[in-house]
Amino acid sequence: MQEIAKDLKKAKNILEEGGVIGLPTETVYGLAARIDIPSAIEKIFLTKERPFFDPLIVHVSTLEMAKKVTAYWGPASQVLAEAFWPGPLTMVLPRDPSVNTMITSGLETVGIRMPKHRIALNLIDAAGIPLAAPSANKFGKTSPTSANHVRTEFQKENVFVLDGGDCDIGIESTVLAVRHGADTVQLSILRRGHVLKTDIEKVLTAAGIKFEFVETTDKRESPGHMKHHYMPPVPLIVVTDSKMTPETAVLEANSKITELPDEIESIKIIKPKNGLHTFQILKLSEDPLLATREFYGKLREVAALGGDCILFYRDKGQEGERWESLFDRLNKAASLIL
Ligand code: TXA
Ligand code: MG
Repeated sequence: MQEIAKDLKKAKNILEEGGVIGLPTETVYGLAARIDIPSAIEKIFLTKERPFFDPLIVHVSTLEMAKKVTAYWGPASQVLAEAFWPGPLTMVLPRDPSVNTMITSGLETVGIRMPKHRIALNLIDAAGIPLAAPSANKFGKTSPTSANHVRTEFQKENVFVLDGGDCDIGIESTVLAVRHGADTVQLSILRRGHVLKTDIEKVLTAAGIKFEFVETTDKRESPGHMKHHYMPPVPLIVVTDSKMTPETAVLEANSKITELPDEIESIKIIKPKNGLHTFQILKLSEDPLLATREFYGKLREVAALGGDCILFYRDKGQEGERWESLFDRLNKAASLIL
C-alpha cells in the first residue's frame, strides 16, 4: 500500500514535468502523458516511434472530464458510459476545441475511455486532468499486458512503469464511433474488443435509443488501422488447414515470405535473413476470454524461444464474436495466413 502510494506520487510528478509513464489498465498497458502539455504528447509519439497520423485515446476518471473534452455529449454517450465505464469501450465523439490536435491527429473527433483499473483511475484523479495513452509498445509491435513487458520495451528510454499486475482483458478496448443525428444515433465499430456489438445493441435498446450500425470504409475516419500491427519479433504464421503439418507450413511460409514487401503501411515486415527453417507453436486456451487474456504475453514468450517463426493453428471451433475480436489482433500480428 505504502509502495503504490509512493509510486503514484512519483508518476504524478513525472507527468507534471512533461514526462511519460507506463500506465496499467484492464486491457493493455498504456504510455501516458498529460493532455495539457504539448511536449509531453509529442514525447509519446517519439518514444513509441509512432507516426503522427495515428490518434491517441484520452483516458478520464470521471464523466465530467469526458464531457469537458467533447463538443457534444449526447444521450447515447451517456447511456453507453453508464453501462460500460469504467471499462474497455472507447467512444469517438466530437472534439472540444481545447483538445490538442496532435492527440486527435488533426481529426475533429476524440477517442475517450475510462479504464477499469484502480491505479489508473487514482493517477488520473491525482493529475486532475485526462491522460492521453496509446498502448505501451513500439509502433506496430506486440502490445504489453504486464509491467515487465513495458519495462523491456522501453528499457533504453528508461520509462517509469506503475505496476498494476497482469491485465485482466488482454486486448485493447473496443473503439466505437458515436454520431448523434436528429433522431437516430449512427454507430461504427472501428476496432473490435471485449465490449461486443451485441452488448452495445442490448444497452441502447433497453434505454429506448434509436440507433443504426454503419460500416465505415473511410480510412480518414479510422486511422491507425493498418493491415498489420501487434507484430512479434519473429514472423507469426496462421495455419487454417488443420491437416497441414508444421514442416509443410514452414516450407510454404518460407517461399511466400520472400514475396512480401519490406514495409506495409509504415509497419516493417520481418524476414529472417537465412529463411524460415525452425518453428515454435503458439497455443492458446480453449476459452476465448482466457485465450484473449494470455494472447500478447504468450506471443512474446513463444517469440523469445528462438525459432525462425511461430505457427498458430486456427481451430474450426473458434467461432463467434469473442474469437473475432481476438482474431482481429492475431491476424494483424501475422505475417502470413496459410
Ligand atoms: O485499451 C486501449 O484502448 C489501450 C489502453 C492503453 O487504453 N489503448 C490503445 O491505444 O489501444 P492505441 O493508441 O494503441 O490505439 C488507439 C486507436 C488508434 O489507433 C485509432 O485507431 C483509434 O484508437 N482512435 C483514437 N482516436 C480516434 C479518433 N478520434 N477517431 C478514430 N479512431 C481513433
Ligand atoms: Mg496499440
